[in-house]
Amino acid sequence: MELGQRGAVIWLTGLSGAGKSTVASAVDSWLHDQGRHCYLLDGDNLRHGLCSDLGFSEEDRAENVRRAGEAARLIAEAGIVSVCALISPFARERNQIRENCGKADIPFIEVFVSAPLAVCEERDPKGLYRRARLGEIPMFTGIDSPYETPSNPEVTLRTDESPVEECVVRLGELIVERTRPASEK
Ligand code: ADX
Repeated sequence: MELGQRGAVIWLTGLSGAGKSTVASAVDSWLHDQGRHCYLLDGDNLRHGLCSDLGFSEEDRAENVRRAGEAARLIAEAGIVSVCALISPFARERNQIRENCGKADIPFIEVFVSAPLAVCEERDPKGLYRRARLGEIPMFTGIDSPYETPSNPEVTLRTDESPVEECVVRLGELIVERTRPASEK
């Protein structure tokens, strides 16, 4: 089947509350409006099914991210743009996905969805930071579990400084550019 596009893996990483899911789902709709075929993989949803056996230890997070990365690559191999939103706190697993995509000649765009911890904690959309501070949720990213900031992401979106719509258009335009079929280049 010719979809008239290249598949790609768009990997949104950042703290809980930074805006990954919001940007990912808005960019998914934006791409859809541009006629791009895409599929959204969100950590919160994956943890109900594919990764429901995993918790939040370093080992389990690594496995969670590995599985999501494999799923994303398979989707991209089918010619679809896979938009993934996971905290994915460790550089090693993110880099592994980048490497796997490289081997399969699939464009990989790492997007650092960035907002200071204090801002994420203030937003606290699910009330999880408050519970983590009370000691009710152990190993919470940014509180008592580390987040390794990407050293060389393709895009950094400062959601505390720019409105979501602006982040979405900026990322969306880059994705459209990077997923043009060879015949249009
Ligand atoms: S990851 O670290 O393994 O990439 P993932 O993105 O799948 O995390 O899941 C993060 C979501 O799980 C958060 O948005 C939050 O709703 C929930 N969550 C529950 N416990 C934790 C925790 N200890 N640390 C971070 N997020 C948690």
